[in-house]
Amino acid sequence: MDIEREIRVRAEEIDALLSAYLPPEEGLQRTVLSAMHYSVTAGGKRLRPMLMQETYRMFGGREGVVEPFMAAIEFIHTYSLVHDDLPAMDNDEYRRGKKTTHAVYGEAMGILAGDALLNYAYETAAGAFERWPDHPRVGQALLVLAKKSGVYGMVGGQVVDVESEGCADMTREKLDFIYRLKTGALLEGAMLIGALLAGASEQECRTVREAAGAVGLAFQIQDDILDVTGTPEVLGKPIGSDEKNQKSTYVSFEGIEKAKEDVAALTEHAIAQMNSLTVKNEFLVELLRYLISREK
Ligand code: IPE
Ligand code: IPE
Ligand code: MG
Ligand code: MG
Ligand code: MG
Repeated sequence: MDIEREIRVRAEEIDALLSAYLPPEEGLQRTVLSAMHYSVTAGGKRLRPMLMQETYRMFGGREGVVEPFMAAIEFIHTYSLVHDDLPAMDNDEYRRGKKTTHAVYGEAMGILAGDALLNYAYETAAGAFERWPDHPRVGQALLVLAKKSGVYGMVGGQVVDVESEGCADMTREKLDFIYRLKTGALLEGAMLIGALLAGASEQECRTVREAAGAVGLAFQIQDDILDVTGTPEVLGKPIGSDEKNQKSTYVSFEGIEKAKEDVAALTEHAIAQMNSLTVKNEFLVELLRYLISREK
């Protein structure tokens, strides 16, 4: 399988889906609508919607009901990046190869574009109730989306991440908490929503959650590695952001070699979990493996 090509094809389809779901740039509030477009269409790997769709397919999902959720999770992820880059947070100037949203539109519009994307995500996902009124799992999927994004998910992780800046007494437990929440939660949500909407059993959902948790940790560790070893041109965002902000990361805590080993080990664990299921998705497994060596 030409995995890079397969990823590219899917990412392009997701780009088109996102553009179709974005609200038109019109009305007196068009500045914020334009900032929403700017941040969402800047690119990005589209990993969360991709994982959601592939997990959905893996469990035999064939309907369009996953699509509003794919758009919603990418809107939430993008809002988290817009806010993560704000001066009060990581204070970064580049994202997805372009100036950050606050750098272009100003800080107030950066905050509001994030708020707007977050709310629009739920408008989009909740639209599934109207279009698929008889689908039994739309409500459950919406609950997962909300939980994984909020204070018991991504937001909670970002809180501890910010509070831990410059902190000398970082522990492995705290680091794991940050990673599981700030990054793991949305990746878990993505795969779990895909499984749920396709009708996966409780046991299958547990396995998916276990796999996705490991993927989430591996993904954030690799992000930290790339913050040290990457190049801004390939990454599309600055390197050295963590050091600038005196973040304790997996790399600063465990060293880069151990970090790399753990990315590979966590990924193999995730793949083993996925392979333990009776349903299969070869692309999904290849995608997870590909992420170990990702350069962006
Ligand atoms: C960046 O996420 C923030 C993290 C949670 C590590 P991605 O690496 O998925 O960013 P995009 O969406 O491709 O820009
Ligand atoms: C951010 O982690 C995770 C989010 C929830 C946005 P980072 O701060 O390391 O993400 P990057 O490196 O800026 O993409
Ligand atoms: Mg951050
Ligand atoms: Mg950041
Ligand atoms: Mg980072």
